[in-house]
Amino acid sequence: MSSTLIKSGRVITAADDYIGDVLIENERISLIGESLDVDADKVVDASGKYVLPGGVDPHTHLDMPFGGTVTIDDVESGQTAAAFGGTTCHVDFVIQPRGATFAAALDEWRGKADGKQVIDMGYHMAITDLDEGGSLEELAGLPEQGVTSYKLFMAYKGALMVDDETLFRSMQVAADSGALVMVHAENGDAIDVLVKDALAAGNTEPRYHALTRPPETEGEATNRAIQLARVAGAPLYVVHVSCHEAVEPIALAREKGWNVWGETCTQYFFVDYTFLERPNFEGAKFVYTPPPRDKANQDVLWNAVRTDILSAVSTDHCAFNWDGQKTLGKDDFSKIPNGGPGLENRLHMIHEFGVRAGRISLNRMVELLSTSPAKLFGLYPRKGTIAVGSDADIVVFDPDKKHTISASTHHSKVDYNLYEGTEITGSPELVLLRGNVLVENDELVASPGIGQYVARARFGEELKAETAVA
Ligand code: URP
Ligand code: ZN
Ligand code: ZN
Repeated sequence: MSSTLIKSGRVITAADDYIGDVLIENERISLIGESLDVDADKVVDASGKYVLPGGVDPHTHLDMPFGGTVTIDDVESGQTAAAFGGTTCHVDFVIQPRGATFAAALDEWRGKADGKQVIDMGYHMAITDLDEGGSLEELAGLPEQGVTSYKLFMAYKGALMVDDETLFRSMQVAADSGALVMVHAENGDAIDVLVKDALAAGNTEPRYHALTRPPETEGEATNRAIQLARVAGAPLYVVHVSCHEAVEPIALAREKGWNVWGETCTQYFFVDYTFLERPNFEGAKFVYTPPPRDKANQDVLWNAVRTDILSAVSTDHCAFNWDGQKTLGKDDFSKIPNGGPGLENRLHMIHEFGVRAGRISLNRMVELLSTSPAKLFGLYPRKGTIAVGSDADIVVFDPDKKHTISASTHHSKVDYNLYEGTEITGSPELVLLRGNVLVENDELVASPGIGQYVARARFGEELKAETAVA
């Protein structure tokens, strides 16, 4: 049994902040104390460093066919990027191909991860079809296999979008099966009309991606999903909230005590509509959905994460190369594959512009990036905290380490970075997955295959250490 002792670090969880020692044995945290007098195979001097729970990213798309192409990051490259950024667990989306059963879809996605996993992962099931492929009965059985969240797209008409009947029936199943319903909330029908109108008028540049998806379409769908979830009695999680119009109905629902949560993504704090106007088709790098909004929304989002109107920050990492993939839409913005990268830089950016800028506390940062996603998605307390019995997924974070974010040094395969040239202070120095060293001295130490599939607990239930890994 190998052991690691992390000494004299500033241990920060969602609730705590103290200087202490953390002992890891058999992949778990076995002891925490002020000054532990124990032998260990490896001793890490963490004085002057933060000791954080590994990041949990609840929203990623690796090796996903979308928009006429496939995301450039597969499980190995995406998870390698995640590890360098201090994320040790994520939940990726299985997309049910139309006509396929959920079992076939899940098998296909697990096959993509086979032997490639660098960090731990679970899956959400994105439902596209309840008629020809998966049935309501099959859907109800997914939580048994550790897939305890269903995702529905209210946009992307003709591709992933479902109608309200499918959305509502899925919510009814979730209410019984113990799953959390996730929605991509935009009014896909209205957007489809606006896109057709724009193209008919000869408006083809990237900025029309945003102009045809106004914030009201996000606000309307968010409200619709909240009301339907209320009728069905299902818990609801609204993904990638980008604007005031969507924050407002979530705030109202939470004020009423309804089972509604929302996330935003790193990019919505930093990228605004004007990025889409960059010349020479550079704007296409920022074509993701919902689109970058007017800058005023950035303060709305900071306020929402500070006050727990929004409960998590994900990346929605869905990376396409600019050259060769984004350029599919050179003459038609609607053909630009939607999605942006970010898996590696969530902690960097939120620490720099959230914590160091005084917008949120260190505890709140840990809560948004790790604890709250772990709790909502059935991973807690195995993931998302530093506690005796939890997996030793730990980031030793140097708050003084300077780094310039760049595509030339990041670990994703994608050929650009949304935050190119941003200078930050504070970066992971050592990243452990279940006590195994993933990243040390800016090198990936572990080999692919070390990551595991995590069967998640049902919504509202805890994931105990003994039960989880399949
Ligand atoms: O543009 C995005 N966000 N692409 C990924 C799919 C989704 O909508 O989450
Ligand atoms: Zn989406
Ligand atoms: Zn997404």
